[in-house]
Amino acid sequence: MTQLVHSNAELRLAMTGLASNICLVPTMGALHEGHEALIGAGKEFVGKDGCVVVSDFVNPKQFGQNEDFEKYPRNLELDQKIAHKAGAHILWAPSVEDVYPGQWPMEIENDSRFDILEGKSRPGHFAAVIEVVTRLFNIVQPNVAVFGEKDFQQLVLVSEMAQKRVPPVGILAVPTKRDFDGLALSSRNIYLSSDQRKVAHLIPDALKQGVLVASKGANKLEIKNRVIEVIKQTDLIEIEYIEVLSNDFKELAPGIVGRILIAAKLGNTRLIDNMPILLKEKL
Ligand code: PAJ
Repeated sequence: MTQLVHSNAELRLAMTGLASNICLVPTMGALHEGHEALIGAGKEFVGKDGCVVVSDFVNPKQFGQNEDFEKYPRNLELDQKIAHKAGAHILWAPSVEDVYPGQWPMEIENDSRFDILEGKSRPGHFAAVIEVVTRLFNIVQPNVAVFGEKDFQQLVLVSEMAQKRVPPVGILAVPTKRDFDGLALSSRNIYLSSDQRKVAHLIPDALKQGVLVASKGANKLEIKNRVIEVIKQTDLIEIEYIEVLSNDFKELAPGIVGRILIAAKLGNTRLIDNMPILLKEKL
């Protein structure tokens, strides 16, 4: 069974003599098949002599004032079962004091990319994510860490931090796991009412249509309009943003793979999704 540990001391003890090849999978718990895919990829990467540590920590700092920190789903017992099924060695569920010891402040340098896309409606979110992931790296000291493409902006920003870090941490990126109808799996999907859940597939459907019209030569405005057209089949989904950008969040040139990214609200539930996109070159 995957070993469940809480304090940093317990974690260190559990890791002693286990392996030199250590993979960290940072999560906020409420594990689902998306997280399982990350654990599986980590396990495959480190091989049979490696060790996969899954952190399970709902980081208070990365939630905004009106966000769902208090009601974020928590179920450690189920998380341990899922982590075990996916092949993790250790499930580490630290306390706030373990991750943020009082004597250890940390300043994260601001970056203009913290304020775009997700950062626009979530001020302070990415500085908090970078801080917590840095803290998790410092405690676990992994060789490699796994992140999902589902949170694309997070993946890009964390990858840069991980590369600059001394010693660097390798980043494995795992494609988005989707439900039967294409909806990206998310711990927040459980907040959806049955009516909202029935139409939520329009989010990935719309992105796919965007990708399709891009391949036929549509420009960015036409792509966005097509996405809006698909989503407007229901009035239960409110679009917050749709962007077509390069993988480093700049203007996307034709012929280079970039990203189409969306955030949308169904009632109070905010969902995000993204897909690779290629604008057709004019010949
Ligand atoms: P959380 O939302 O729990 O996600 C943990 C990891 O699982 C992230 O790397 C995320 O991109 C990935 N993930 C979530 N849903 C996925 C899906 N459907 N398919 C593939 N991967 C998926 O992201 C966080 O937690 C936090 O911000 C964290 C990095 C742990 C820092 O607190």
